[in-house]
Amino acid sequence: MKAMTITKTLIAVLAAAAASQAVALAAGGGEKHPEHQHWHFSGPFGTYDPNALQRGYQVYETVCSNCHSLNYVAFRNLGQKGGPFYLESCPEGFPDNVDCSNPNDNPIVKALADKYKYQVTDGPDDTGEMFQRAALPSDSIPAPYANEQLARMANNNALPPDLSLITKARGGGPDYVYSLLTGYEEAPSTVQLAPGQYYNPYFPGDMAQAMKPEYMHDGHPVEGVTVPPGGVLSMAPPLADGIVEYGDGSPQTVEQYAKDVTEFLMWAAEPKMEARKALGVMSIIYLVILAGILYWSYRKVWADQH
Ligand code: HEC
Repeated sequence: MKAMTITKTLIAVLAAAAASQAVALAAGGGEKHPEHQHWHFSGPFGTYDPNALQRGYQVYETVCSNCHSLNYVAFRNLGQKGGPFYLESCPEGFPDNVDCSNPNDNPIVKALADKYKYQVTDGPDDTGEMFQRAALPSDSIPAPYANEQLARMANNNALPPDLSLITKARGGGPDYVYSLLTGYEEAPSTVQLAPGQYYNPYFPGDMAQAMKPEYMHDGHPVEGVTVPPGGVLSMAPPLADGIVEYGDGSPQTVEQYAKDVTEFLMWAAEPKMEARKALGVMSIIYLVILAGILYWSYRKVWADQH
């Protein structure tokens, strides 16, 4: 009898929860839950895939860096152990006294920095003037805009956020960034977008604000109409098939670009992840061995006490 009532109560609670969920969906609002992806770096033994990191940097450099800064990443970080362009030893033909595992001497890192010509302000020189020079491995990646005002002016008054920590700064983390990049959709016909705005079901927002007036009554959608999930943002879909040319034969698709750039941004936000996980695993092993020794000594100490 008792078990019966508990079961009934449970069913009632679950039904109520399901019903409230249904109501929430019908009312619209909220955003779609990010699609869960399988990442190299998830789980206690997860590591970054250096090839994915290199492709991800390429996508960032070719596409995202036109609007987004990456202020907390210096070129030399790209050549550190665990980074996309780390070299254990120099390529053939380098003098013996050069150590390419040192990021400042890593030829790939130097070349990547040198692409940013005249983009770093240095000085003053002997005449007291500041001057522009190419980036060096020790410089952080130059930002696309000199200041926030310029950034907003070029982007429909929206500010493209710095991407250094973005995979940590948003709920859903890398799954969210991936879903946002791949999830753009044509806005539903019930919605009116202002110029320079784009609909994305994964972007947090309130689409009730964007509904055409004929579909709304007193702040609620009229009978039979639902408010779509997601929000509108001022970033046009940045990726399209084929826009970045990969050298390693990986698919040149929006999905692959999004996956690679997200893995790269995850590395940017947490370059020491691999060391952290290795330490965690070592600690567990240590604790297991310690527990074994303690158990063994306990048996030994108490062996002849009855
Ligand atoms: C043409 C400029 C432009 C390009 C190129 C661009 N973005 Fe954006 N991005 C923006 C703007 C503007 C915003 C702010 C949008 C808003 O808040 O309405 C933004 C916002 C974002 C956000 C934050 C969304 C949120 O939750 O607030 C992420 C993540 C992002 N971009 C990632 C990327 C990545 C990754 C790339 C490269 C594949 C990229 N963007 C390329 C302009 C750009």
